[in-house]
Amino acid sequence: MWRALLPVGRDADTGGYHRFAWTPPELECRAWFADEARRRGLALEHDRNGNMIAWWRPEEGEGEPRVDRGHRAVLTGSHLDSVPGGGAFDGPLGIVSAFAAVDLLRERGATPRRPIGIAAFAEEEGARFGVACLGSRLLAGAIDPARARGLTDGDGRTFAEVLHGAGLDPDAIGPDEELLGRVGCYVELHVEQGRALREPVGVASSIVPHGRWRLEFAGEGNHAGTTALADRRDPMIPFAGMVLAARDAAERNGTVATVGKVRVVPGGVNAIASSVTAWLDARGPADDAVRRTVAEVGAAAREAARPHRVAVELAEESYTEIVDFNLALRDRVAGALGGAPVLPTGAGHDAGVLSARLPTAMLFVRNPTGVSHAPAEHAETADCLAGVEALAAVLDDLARG
Ligand code: GLV
Ligand code: MN
Ligand code: MN
Ligand code: MN
Repeated sequence: MWRALLPVGRDADTGGYHRFAWTPPELECRAWFADEARRRGLALEHDRNGNMIAWWRPEEGEGEPRVDRGHRAVLTGSHLDSVPGGGAFDGPLGIVSAFAAVDLLRERGATPRRPIGIAAFAEEEGARFGVACLGSRLLAGAIDPARARGLTDGDGRTFAEVLHGAGLDPDAIGPDEELLGRVGCYVELHVEQGRALREPVGVASSIVPHGRWRLEFAGEGNHAGTTALADRRDPMIPFAGMVLAARDAAERNGTVATVGKVRVVPGGVNAIASSVTAWLDARGPADDAVRRTVAEVGAAAREAARPHRVAVELAEESYTEIVDFNLALRDRVAGALGGAPVLPTGAGHDAGVLSARLPTAMLFVRNPTGVSHAPAEHAETADCLAGVEALAAVLDDLARG
């Protein structure tokens, strides 16, 4: 099952994955998901926000899930999309493990009283439309649907157009109380993305506050050979100052700040850029430290821009406050695993977004490289299997009562 996904969207030179929401490789992953559901006789649901759910409803046979508030479902899953040049595990590990855990439970003759759903959330990385966890945000009511419809990708296509092309009604997106009402809790298994986990499987305690900002530097395009230094309005210079300032601000505030994406227009070797757009990712242990970091980066950018007569604008694209996972659920999950290590994370997840609406928990599988969002991201097979066992134990426990 895992092997079938490995070639999809993989760059043969770098080994990195390019699976952006509703592009051909991600559609191939979605087809794989539908096929895995079908092969197991699970009922496939497409929600109105571009998310997919495969339902196992043992006590009723198959068919459409029904609303039953007494027996609300246990939802698990993750995402199939990737960052540009991402690793194989971020997202797909949670989905493959969920199918494998359901297989294990079936083999062992488990008879869960609650439906178990396996979700593939759309655009978790925000690599195409800029807002991370877009599918779960829409489901949970954490983004204005009108704003979501107008988000554009790098080619200027709106989210609404892309949804329409995928057969979804863009006017129907938004909070889905009916679906949320069928779900009792969400448990996401994910590869750990730093160096924090020394054992095969851990449980998440919290997600640090994090967000994305866009800085626009507007100067004047001109000739690289004929324009005197004094006549230039070169946006690259304050942009470079801003990148250095981000590092300094992060050090001062005990946060992390990253400029990993930049668009230079027009992008000619022999042309002074007319504009530079740069994206800042900032995260830290507390809201005020993150906010201070961003404010300092903005001030430094404006200061660096002034002598070059470059205009600067700073806009927030998304922000997620600290997420403390539901304590009772976390304890129950750790208990079902016989006491696994509990650790915070600096990475964002659909579980974080959904935690505003549902009790949510996360399992992490050890990552020996400590690298993620890059091809070197890794998890040993034995640890992945331990993750499947752990997820099966948790689902079995949660779906019983
Ligand atoms: C998503 O994985 C993020 O943390 O940016
Ligand atoms: Mn990721
Ligand atoms: Mn992920
Ligand atoms: Mn993520």
